[in-house]
Amino acid sequence: MIVLENVSKIFPSGAAGLNDISVLFEKGEFAFITGQTGSGKTTLLKLIIRELLPTEGNIMVEDIDVVALPQKKLPHLRKKIGIVFQDLKLLPDRTVIENVLLPLEIAGTAHEEASARAEALLEDVGVGEHKMKFPQQLSGGELQRVAIARALTLDPSIIIADEPTGNLDDETAAAIVDLLHAINKKGTTVIMVTHNTGIVSKYPGHHHVVLEKGKIVKDTKKKHEAKKEMDHEVIEDSKKPAKHEKEHEEKKEEIFEGSIEEVIEHKKGK
Ligand SMILES: Nc1ncnc2c1ncn2[C@@H]1O[C@H](COP(=O)(O)OP(=O)(O)OP(=O)(O)O)[C@@H](O)[C@H]1O
Ligand SMILES: [Mg+2]
Repeated sequence: MIVLENVSKIFPSGAAGLNDISVLFEKGEFAFITGQTGSGKTTLLKLIIRELLPTEGNIMVEDIDVVALPQKKLPHLRKKIGIVFQDLKLLPDRTVIENVLLPLEIAGTAHEEASARAEALLEDVGVGEHKMKFPQQLSGGELQRVAIARALTLDPSIIIADEPTGNLDDETAAAIVDLLHAINKKGTTVIMVTHNTGIVSKYPGHHHVVLEKGKIVKDTKKKHEAKKEMDHEVIEDSKKPAKHEKEHEEKKEEIFEGSIEEVIEHKKGK
């Protein structure tokens, strides 16, 4: 579970990255974060991985108090979270497999074991055949898959993806979201930032958080918003044949009432 409680991030320039937001991401869920450019999406992700510290507020990632975490314990947090960056951050002078190996080597995994794992991950995400190539020899969609494989190397419980479909055509983007879904189905929490609201509308049962100028203007896990979303879907559904799969997904979603503090207490009591 990831919880942000009354979190603000004001940059030294005075720009407000985030302004008093509270949000809860459940273990094992698939969440979309959308919002216009400059609305605070990347800032939110950077706070979760403690690339940034908030000006105010509390952040918990599972059992870790992110704000109070001593610098030397940062690897505990980072091991839990696989990150797919907006600009990929693949090293151009290393092959695909070397890029995926890197986190394992840093973690001290023996070379043979690390190679086998990297190869298996590249196969899993569908780019095994490109393992000996350099990043500039791959397409955008292939590179995204490599970045996802690299994010999975340390077997994280959470994947955070910042615009993983940003530069891709619709079909390739849908394949990347499908891949993230397959990862989510195995139990990994996925938080995906996207500009592409078309993608989000294809997955109506999912947690969806919308940011605007550093504020949350919609959160489908909060009761009043969830109701609106469902009303919308009832109208949409009345135009179409019954969709058992969608109903099933909706039932899986828990609807929260009350403040984040109450929700945390409720969860503790479970
Ligand atoms: N290091 C920084 N110093 C000062 N201001 C910053 C910094 N990083 C972000 N900001 C500001 O904070 C706001 C939110 O930025 P952020 O990068 O989170 O937006 P975003 O929603 O990810 O946008 P995009 O869709 O373009 O990636 C913007 O106004 C931005 O200019
Ligand atoms: Mg961004």
